[in-house]
This record gives sequence, C-alpha cells and structure tokens, in this order.
Amino acid sequence: MKSNFLIISSLILSVGFQLLAQQKVMELPHLHENVKSAQLIVHGKPFIMLAGELSNSTSSSMSYMDSIMPHLKALNLNTVLAAVSWEMIEPVEGQFDFSNVDGHISKARKNNLKLVMLWFGTWKNACSSYAPAWVRQDTKRFVRSEDLAGAKLNNLSALCSATCEADSKAFAALMKHLKEVDGVQNTVLAVQVENEPGIRGDSREHSALANEAFNKPVPIELMHYLIENKEKLTPDFLQIWAKSFYKKEGTWTEVFDGEADMVFMSWNTASYINKVAAAGKAVYPLPMYTNAWLGNNESAKAGTFPSGGCVPRVFPIWKAAAPSIDILSPDIYRKEFASTCNLYQRMNNPLFIPETGYFTHANVFYAIGQGAICFSPFGIEEYYPITDPIGKSYQLLTNLMPYLLQYQGAGKMVGVVGKKDEKQEISLGDYKLQISFLGGSKGETPSGAIIISLANDEFLVAGSGLSVTFLSGENKPKRTEILKAYELVYKNKSWEKQRRLNGDETGNGSDHGIQLQFKDDNLGVKTAKVFSYE
Ligand code: DGJ
Repeated sequence: MKSNFLIISSLILSVGFQLLAQQKVMELPHLHENVKSAQLIVHGKPFIMLAGELSNSTSSSMSYMDSIMPHLKALNLNTVLAAVSWEMIEPVEGQFDFSNVDGHISKARKNNLKLVMLWFGTWKNACSSYAPAWVRQDTKRFVRSEDLAGAKLNNLSALCSATCEADSKAFAALMKHLKEVDGVQNTVLAVQVENEPGIRGDSREHSALANEAFNKPVPIELMHYLIENKEKLTPDFLQIWAKSFYKKEGTWTEVFDGEADMVFMSWNTASYINKVAAAGKAVYPLPMYTNAWLGNNESAKAGTFPSGGCVPRVFPIWKAAAPSIDILSPDIYRKEFASTCNLYQRMNNPLFIPETGYFTHANVFYAIGQGAICFSPFGIEEYYPITDPIGKSYQLLTNLMPYLLQYQGAGKMVGVVGKKDEKQEISLGDYKLQISFLGGSKGETPSGAIIISLANDEFLVAGSGLSVTFLSGENKPKRTEILKAYELVYKNKSWEKQRRLNGDETGNGSDHGIQLQFKDDNLGVKTAKVFSYE
C-alpha cells in the first residue's frame, strides 16, 4: 500500500516537473505569427526592438563598452546587437571562455537593455577572419574556398563538413552557456547565425569539394521542395527556374541555367548554417536569423555581393535548406529602403533589420509601421552622435509603444516614407489616405510616419514632414472631411489631447478640414475622425 502511494506521488511529481519544464520552454522569447507577419514574444508580451548594432570591434572590450553605454542610452535604444566571435570564445579547440559574453549580459541588464548576439563564426562579410587561429591555420582539415585558378581564399568552404562540425560545436557551447546564465531572465532575445555569409569575387567557390558537388544532380530534397511549393515561390526565383522550363531534375546548370552558381552556393551555405543553427537550437531554442549583404540592385551579378547569402532572389532556396533559421534578414544600405523591406516580407518571413544606414530617423517609421520586429542602424556608437535624429524617433516610438504592440502585424497599421514632393496613396479603414511628403531638414532628407486605423473612420498619425489628406474609399460617397482632429502630447506616461485642430491647421490653403499636417522636422502625433457625404 505504502509503495503504491510512493509510486503515485512520484508519478505526480514527475508530471508536474515536466509541465514546469514545458512552461519554461513556452516562456522563452519566440515568434508568434499574426495576420501580416509575426511578433516577438518576450515573457508573454510582444516586444519591438528599437536597436542599434555596435561596430565590429566594440564588443570585444568591456571597458570600451562602459565608455559607450551613456551614448546608447542617450539615443533611446531598448536593444543592442553585439558580436560574439568564435576566436574569442574558443581560442583553443574545446576550451571555452565566456567572460566576454557574461560581461555583455550583465552590462545590458544594468542599463535596462536587451541583447541580440551576432555569431561571427565561419563567415563575417564573406570572409573568415573571426574563426579561431586553430581553424584558420589548418587549411587541410578546414578546407578553404578556392578561386578559378586554384588559389585559396580568406573564405572557409561551405562544403567542408569538418568546419561545419567545429562551428556547430562552438555555437552549441555558446547557446548552452546562454541557457545557463540567461535562460530565465532572457536578456538575450535572439541570435544571428554567422554574418553576411557567401563568397565574393566569383559567383561560386572552385575547391575540389565544390567542383565535385556542382557537377552532381541538384539534391532531390531541394527539387521536391520546389515542386511541392511551386505556387508559393517568389516571382524573382521562378524567373530563374523558368529558363529551364521548370526542369524537375538535372545538374545545377541544367536546372538553374545562368544563375546555377548562385543557387548552388545558396543551397550549400544555407544547409551549412542550418546545421549550425540546429545544433544551437537543440540546446537553447532562441529565435535565430541570418543576414544578407545585398547587391546594388536586384539584377546585380552574384559575386559582386556574397554569392550564397539570403538575397531576395534565392528566398525559396534558403527556406528549403534552413528550417532552423526563423528569419532571413536584409542589411539595408541602399536608397530603396521601403521596397527592400517589402522583398523581405514574402513567404511569411518576418521583417528584422539588423543593419541599416542613411536616413534611419525616417526609415524607422516605415519599418516599424510595416510590422518590423527589429530596426537597427549599424555602428550606432560610432556614426550616430547623441544629437542624431534617430534618438528623437526612438523616443517617440518608445512613447507610442502600447499602440505599436497592439497593432503590429494586425493589418491596421502602415509605415510611409518619402522624399520631398513625392506622393503616396494608401487604403486604410474605410478610406483612402493621400500622403504628400515635404521631406525633413528643409526638404533635403526623406520624411516618414506611422499611420494606424484606430477605427474604420478614425486615424492616428505619428511622424514629421508630410500631410495626410483623407479621401473616400472605394464604396464611399465622394466628399470627405475631418469631423474632429486633435494633436496629442505625451504627459505623465500617457497620451493626452491638446489642441483641437481645425481651419488652417487642417487645410490646404483653399479648403479646410481635410488633412492632418506635419509641416517641419518636429515629430508630432495627431488623430482625425473623418466622414463622407454626397
Ligand atoms: C556589413 C557588416 O555586416 C558589418 O559587420 C559591417 O562590417 C558593415 N558592413 C560595415 O559597413
């Protein structure tokens, strides 16, 4: 009788422990899909990263980190993206040193910041300079990519299983350590696996390993994925495949014709990174992403940008090869910011921008309005003085956070950005909204805003340097006017109505009560309830 009681109680205890363990896993930062993309959930609540990525060498020194902390706070960041390099955590094979990682976590916690760790392992900007000396110097065990003439490159081969295994072990050790020191508090929200991987200077590597694989048929798993998902594939990828009339088998060149090198490198790079990510996730499954160095434009030749990286044209290849990578991310330094974001919101890919430059103070409104999980200017402590307007944009977005979290990805919030004299028309709620951009800094920089449909006839606009004119939607009568408009001000941690706006403040000179105006660089928040009549 007594022993039965003991068995039953230990069963109950073990089920209890299992439930607790499951609950812990549930509580880890994770992605939650919604109407438009996904939200990052941290301790049960959505979180948007108003972030900055540190310059490459900054995170190697804790005393240097101390010197820049006030800078990060002054710019109103809530998250920092910091590199963790393979050479620093595993200077001798099998011997790990996580003092640098621990330093970052404790500094972030003291300063009320979250962290994203960037794993500089096999690749960093299509080079391999962050791999430890014992890897870089042993070119027999850790095969190098080679150029056409057979010269070895500063790029570890994507086809070398020994390197992939060594990188995976180091990455899994990092994730195990993160789980031990941060598994409950979750200061680290996500991990970038490698940095701008691929090969530059040529569209594919030419080591013996690579040549052998290139002359074999395209792996059956990839062909199956493409055939089964053909309806969901992106048009730019389909254009590549269409050239062989959607051949269902054959060598890389037979199936992918002129882009065979890039597709081959993408499959191999993505498969390699998937193994590294899976090894880390098996220990501690934080959200993981990888980032791409983009071409100058969407028809740039592979090799002018790292061939193998997750550029838009090879989205389906990455999605097929790397299920352990949750997000494909763009590093956006191009002028075409908005259209590049749109390319990364295909195939259910959440928008996460780990690096960007130029006009960040305006572009952030587009990215966050379109549902981005993370926006992060690169070299935040180096290229962004504390007077940079990104600080004010982040301040406003921080104050607006309850709205942003409520509407992120729900299909009722949009971001807009444009240069002086550009116009854009969007449909939101029951209305059409015509945006006329005035630009910032007296018209020299773009301007941006976030627009939320609070109800079908009520809108909140936050931004600067533009006007929003309300027009009737598809099925509405023609004439549309503002019924009530207010400017909002942030006081005592909440938004309050201040001036009731009418007359010149809602007019275009000849007509009144038709638009919200944000005339200068000053960021503002305004609401309008509108109506139509015949
Ligand atoms: C892109 C890289 O990913 C970063 O680490 C950094 O090197 C920047 N380029 C420099 O502009």
